[in-house]
Amino acid sequence: MDRDQAKLFDDQLGLYDPSKTYLENWDEGPFPAKDFKLYEDKGEPELTFLGLPVYSPFGIPAGPLLNSNHIKFAFDGGFDVICYKTQRSVKFLANDFPNVLYLDIEGDLTIERAKQPLVGQPTTTKPLKNVSITNSFGNPSLGPDFWVDDLKKALTYEKKGQLLIMSVVGTIQEGFSQDDYYDDFAKAAKLAASTSVKAIEINLSCPNVASEGILCYTKEAVVAVCQKVKEAIGDTPLITKFGYFSKAQEQLLEDTLKDIEPLISAISAINTLPAPVVDRNGKQALPGEGRLSSGICGASIKWAGLDMVGRLNKLKAKNNWNYEIIGVGGVMGVNDFHSYREAGADVVQSATAAMWNTDLAAQIKANL
Ligand SMILES: Cc1cc2nc3c(=O)[nH]c(=O)nc-3n(C[C@H](O)[C@H](O)[C@H](O)COP(=O)(O)O)c2cc1C
Repeated sequence: MDRDQAKLFDDQLGLYDPSKTYLENWDEGPFPAKDFKLYEDKGEPELTFLGLPVYSPFGIPAGPLLNSNHIKFAFDGGFDVICYKTQRSVKFLANDFPNVLYLDIEGDLTIERAKQPLVGQPTTTKPLKNVSITNSFGNPSLGPDFWVDDLKKALTYEKKGQLLIMSVVGTIQEGFSQDDYYDDFAKAAKLAASTSVKAIEINLSCPNVASEGILCYTKEAVVAVCQKVKEAIGDTPLITKFGYFSKAQEQLLEDTLKDIEPLISAISAINTLPAPVVDRNGKQALPGEGRLSSGICGASIKWAGLDMVGRLNKLKAKNNWNYEIIGVGGVMGVNDFHSYREAGADVVQSATAAMWNTDLAAQIKANL
C-alpha cells in the first residue's frame, strides 16, 4: 500500500474523517499522522498574492478547515494560502450525516455525465489520486458569536509568507426580501473584516442548500452582492467563489465580470459540480429533502476547473482586467498544480486531496 492509500484508509490521519459527523470532526479534528512534521520555509517569501508576500502559491480552499485548530494544522503543514470554511451571520445547522461519500466514477465528470446518477459509498479502494467524493454540508455555521473570535485566533497562526482568507455567505431568513438576503452577505463580510483578516471570499456557488440555490449564474444577484459587500469591507480585498460556467454561459460570465471587475481582487474557481448521488440500490444516498443532487469534487472535476481557469485568464487578457485567479478543482498531486499554473492560476488550492494527503504542500514546494 502506498503512502497516499495508507492515509486514506486510516481514519486517524488527515483533516477530515468521513466516518464521523461534521460536529465530531469540528470537535476532534484534525487527525495528524504520527509522523506529521512542521514545514519550515527558508529565506524570504518571493511571491505575492493580492499584493501580500507568500512562500508558495498553494493552499486549501473553503471546506476542510472547519475552525482555528484546522487552520493551525494547515499552516504548520506548509499550506500557504488557505481559507476558513464558509460562515454565516447567523447560526445554521449542518445537513444530516453522512456529509462525505466516495464516488464510483472513472475519468471526467462531464456536464452530460453529471445528469445521470452517480453511486456514492462510505469507503473506496481507489488510490487517493483517483478519488472523487460528494460533499454536502450546507454551509453550517455556529454563528458569529463563535466564529469571529475563532477567526481572530486562527489569524494568530498565520506566519510570515502565509495568508488566511475568510469565506462568508448570506442566509435567507424568515420575512427577508431579496435585498435583505444580499445585505446579509455584507453583514457577514463586515463581521469578518472586523477581525482584520487580509482577504474576504464570498461563496456564490454552493450547490448544497436547495433553498438558496447557486447565485453565481444570476448576474444581477452577483453584482448586487459584490457592491454591498465591497461597500461593507472597504479596502479589504474581495474574492468571489464561482462555480463552473459551461461554454454556453460564456457571455453571461463575461457580462457579469464586466460589472464586478472594479470591485473584486480575485476569483476563485471552481466550486463542486452538482450531480445526483444514489446508493447501490439506486435510492437517494444522502438523507433529507433536496439532497438527491449534491456537490462533486476531486479527480473527476479537474477538467472543469482547468477549463474555467483558462477561460478566466483569456477574458482577463482580452479585457485588460486585473483580477487574480485561484484555481481549484481536482488538484490531486504535483502535476495538477503545474497544469493549473500553466492555465493561468495565480494560486492553486486543493480540498479533496489535501484532506487525506497533508504532505501535499511539502510535495508541491519540493517541485516549485
Ligand atoms: C469537505 C468539503 C467542504 C467544502 N465546503 C465548502 C465551503 O464551505 N465553501 C466553499 O466555497 N466551498 C466548499 N467546498 C468546495 C471546495 O472549496 C472546492 O471548491 C471543491 O471541493 C473542489 O476542489 P477539490 O476538487 O480539490 O475538492 C468544500 C469541499 C469539501 C471537500
